Amino acid sequence: MRTPLVAANWKMYKTVRETVVYIKEFRSLVKDVDDVEIVVAPPFVSIAAAAEAARASNVAIAGQDLYWEKEGAFTGEVSAGMLREAGAGLVIVGHSERRAKFAETDRDVNRKVKAAIDGGLVPIMCVGETLEERESGQTLAVLDRQISAGLEGRTVDQVSSIAIADEPGGARGTGRTATAAQAQEAHAHIRGRVREWVGSAAADAVRIMYGGSVKPANARELMSRPDVDGALVGGASLDPRAFAEIVAGGRPGAVK
Ligand code: PGA
Repeated sequence: MRTPLVAANWKMYKTVRETVVYIKEFRSLVKDVDDVEIVVAPPFVSIAAAAEAARASNVAIAGQDLYWEKEGAFTGEVSAGMLREAGAGLVIVGHSERRAKFAETDRDVNRKVKAAIDGGLVPIMCVGETLEERESGQTLAVLDRQISAGLEGRTVDQVSSIAIADEPGGARGTGRTATAAQAQEAHAHIRGRVREWVGSAAADAVRIMYGGSVKPANARELMSRPDVDGALVGGASLDPRAFAEIVAGGRPGAVK
């Protein structure tokens, strides 16, 4: 059985101080959740403080990006080793905003996935078509390209240990979530490709998360689908109680 992974992608929100206040409240809200892997990805500058605030809890900390070199003259960039030492255990790679606004390519994503694994971080590799690609019927072709390029060169064990986040065009930040049936269909396709290209062991183990306007009201329905193994949550994760309810599968009663 795959343990669902539910991650908060804070994007460029919250200062160090706000991060510590959030984590202290959030960790007590989710302290009894033992069947979900819980992750918060704050901006780089807050990772060390977030990791300290989350120490000895069931909340792990992730970076939102990384660079693939270990060190060097790469102004503004951060390596896997730096993230790990600061307290991150995972890292988001290839988010659609990185691809669209910072010109990241499939090749960059491939290098980042490799660098994350080599540096001891679990990558959450984001895939997903743009709204334009969706409307012109290219969804599955785009997913295939991003998955095959992103995972190229990785071993069965490596693919088994990573997570893939599917964020369909038009669903992110828009309030228009894909239906659970649409998410299941895309995820089943992704898992099928992993089965074809990497093998059954990796396909059965890899977590495929859904991202795009996930909220307490729709989390349960989405995550009840067999191939939806968690969520990558942007906007709704900025509120600790809302994110705690999503983590608990939309069950408000499960949140203290
Ligand atoms: P959203 O963001 O939940 O605000 O749609 C998801 C994401 O972009 O990771």
